[in-house]
Amino acid sequence: MNIRFLLAERIRSAMSDAGIPNDFSPHVAIAKKAGFGDYQANGAMSAAKAMKTNPRELAQSIVNNLDLAGIAEKVEIAGPGFINIHLANDWLADQLRACSPQASQKSEEPQTVVIDYSSPNLAKEMHVGHLRSTIIGDAIARILEFRGDKVIRQNHVGDWGTQFGMLIAELEAHLGEGEKPELALQDLEGFYQRAKAHFDADTEFANKARDYVVKLQAGDNNILRLWRQFKEISLKHSEDIYSALNVTLTADSVRGESAYNDDLAPVVKELTEKQLAVIDDGAKVVFLQELADKNGEPSPVIIQKKDGGYLYATSDLAAIRYRVNELKADRILYFIDARQSLHMQQVFTLARKADFVNDWTSLEHHAFGTMMGSDGKPFKTRSGGTVKLAELLVEAVERAAKVIKNNDDIGEQEAADIARKVGIGAVKYADLCKTRTNDYVFDWNSMLSFEGNTGPYLQYAYTRVKSIFRNAQIDMESFDAPLALHAEQEKALALKIMQFSEVLEQVGIEAYPHILCTYLYDLASLFMSFYEACPILKEGVAENTKNSRLSLSKAVAEFLQQGLDLLGIETMERM
Ligand code: ARG
Repeated sequence: MNIRFLLAERIRSAMSDAGIPNDFSPHVAIAKKAGFGDYQANGAMSAAKAMKTNPRELAQSIVNNLDLAGIAEKVEIAGPGFINIHLANDWLADQLRACSPQASQKSEEPQTVVIDYSSPNLAKEMHVGHLRSTIIGDAIARILEFRGDKVIRQNHVGDWGTQFGMLIAELEAHLGEGEKPELALQDLEGFYQRAKAHFDADTEFANKARDYVVKLQAGDNNILRLWRQFKEISLKHSEDIYSALNVTLTADSVRGESAYNDDLAPVVKELTEKQLAVIDDGAKVVFLQELADKNGEPSPVIIQKKDGGYLYATSDLAAIRYRVNELKADRILYFIDARQSLHMQQVFTLARKADFVNDWTSLEHHAFGTMMGSDGKPFKTRSGGTVKLAELLVEAVERAAKVIKNNDDIGEQEAADIARKVGIGAVKYADLCKTRTNDYVFDWNSMLSFEGNTGPYLQYAYTRVKSIFRNAQIDMESFDAPLALHAEQEKALALKIMQFSEVLEQVGIEAYPHILCTYLYDLASLFMSFYEACPILKEGVAENTKNSRLSLSKAVAEFLQQGLDLLGIETMERM
């Protein structure tokens, strides 16, 4: 059930009966201010302007034709022609009882959506720079899937390029000394640094590394075997992180840069034939006038170097072709740092010019800002190094364990599980709840706080409901009772719950997870106010009132849990 949608339909028909042409939208939105009803329709004003009539009078004739019997208890006109709709409590109660997160409104027209996210470089260990893409992309993947889209996750890992020659040569040296590959690559970061030092200091090694790049590109079996070993172990590191982070990427989502090798030459050939690419100083370059700088100089995109090597943009173009032609994508979403905005713009512009995409294919770069330290500079270790994601997550769980005061009867194992869910959830939520396009400051204390818009606060709200049912010795799962909304807190809470699918619809379109976070925070806060104002298990509360309030609480728990799950955050029965 989507209330906004239902109201829009009804108003649209009233507008038509009032003689307003069908191309005017009713503009229904959730009322922003208390006292102005629950929903507001603003369509009369723009229609009146175009039709050159009085907006209030037009609003009145819409209302005269509007049939909301049983749905609204009051419809009023306010200001210059706003139509304010006050929903009927009984109707709302019935809707809520029939509603569950699983039964929420799905997408009108499900699409095939390819989501490019996480995509680390396999030469190194995942660091905090990969956190945002991984968790924001995953939340959007979950939400679109939940809404009924066919979501195809693509982990466009960096598994190709000259640095692999050096890494393979280093791996070969380790294996030559009888070391097991897993052990040699246990510390991927250290391994990379040793290989680099080796490369810089030892010309023989450096020459070998260069030779291996050539052999790798030529498909030499021995070198490919080493490369595959390296890739497999590095991917295993990433998969451990995905599982610690409760992220839905799997081995099946991996399609790295190397997967496009065979299409790189054809891409360049096609761009040349279409006279988009020209030779410039030996390299093949496309000059995009569309993205010209302020002096009118076109933006150059190199697609093949002088030495024949291909570039990041070339594989991205090949990836788009694959996603459109093989995966049949209607939408392709990229969750990549804002610093790659120009690259994405170039790739998108070029893909369109070259007709690599259908007119209707939507190419979307959903950029995000940088994670900052408390000093206002990009988040680093104390010594200024990059923070490894694996270590950050261990620290999150340790810190969570310290701030949680468990009930005495919670055993060691359950306590560890709670700390894990709270710690990981806090890190994820702190990121997801910020407007993604901004930079944000990573701060342990605020993210682990049980007050305010935080992961722990929402998890705690969920356990609150669970404990009400535990205290009442009622099984929540099977509990079902009629709802009656009397107190204003009850109505506000019911209405909020009913808006779940509207929120998901918006998040699905705009790819801003913070909108869902704000919603869940509002939901939890409304629950806390309701809980304070409306006693449930207290002596003297009538049986039907108690049951109605339990029903409402159950809905809160279900929607909170579903909402958190869509953000990739786990809940627990108690803390
Ligand atoms: N591997 C790249 C990096 O670490 C990110 C790739 C993003 N995806 C893409 N299709 N370009 O910066």
